[in-house]
Amino acid sequence: MSRKTFICGNWKLNHLSGETERVLDQIVKAVGNIKGIEISIAPVAPLLGLAVQTTSGSNIGISAQNVFHEQKGAFTGEWSVKHLAELGCKYAIIGHSERRAMFGETSETVAQKTLSCLDGGLVPIACVGETLSQRESGFTQEVIKGQIQPILAALEAQSLANLVLAYEPVWAIGTGKTATTTQAEEVHNLIRALLTACFGAVEAEKTRILYGGSVKPQNIAELLAEPNVDGALVGGASLTAESFCQLVQNAQGLEL
Ligand code: PGA
Repeated sequence: MSRKTFICGNWKLNHLSGETERVLDQIVKAVGNIKGIEISIAPVAPLLGLAVQTTSGSNIGISAQNVFHEQKGAFTGEWSVKHLAELGCKYAIIGHSERRAMFGETSETVAQKTLSCLDGGLVPIACVGETLSQRESGFTQEVIKGQIQPILAALEAQSLANLVLAYEPVWAIGTGKTATTTQAEEVHNLIRALLTACFGAVEAEKTRILYGGSVKPQNIAELLAEPNVDGALVGGASLTAESFCQLVQNAQGLEL
């Protein structure tokens, strides 16, 4: 089964409103009508509404960088899937390693948030990945299994087409050090095998698995050539329209 390539730009804590509007405008003009590839940008939460307005009518979908799993109640500082859906967001990044490391996200909260997105009609982009010391001590497979299994345990097979997973080795994020295509495919293949073990091969083929960690216009094509790399979660290289659009064009195998 062929899975549609998905490129998501994670802007993290960058760009105030003027820059958000300007860069999104440029992205819409350059790649907003591309059909063969799914594109999303994740700006900071307070600018999600502006981002939805700026990209409306284009093929750019807006993603949140986080969401809480409860729908309402005494949870100061949080927002729900319903708030995001009401704003017109289509996706939410869940369990990014920066959130796991700095904001106490666990594989269990990641599973709850993933389920809440699927229940509320949002596509979750659930992230997993090992640290450098975990890789160097030979624990990559165990770490990935430990992070993926709680997510899969919370899901039902019919959700798999709407689920997006992202493998982001922590040592490759923002470091300029990309995983080799072999290292990436090894983990993507493991994730596919875990999906297959839970839901069978037919369903497992439907989930897209993105790679993230120093993805650039120069390395996107080789990563996408791997059978289980279905797209990319892009940080630094998504911050300017020039670099993000070049990356999208290269993902399509087109010349600018
Ligand atoms: P990077 O970030 O592309 O800057 O390495 C990726 C991410 O954190 O999602």
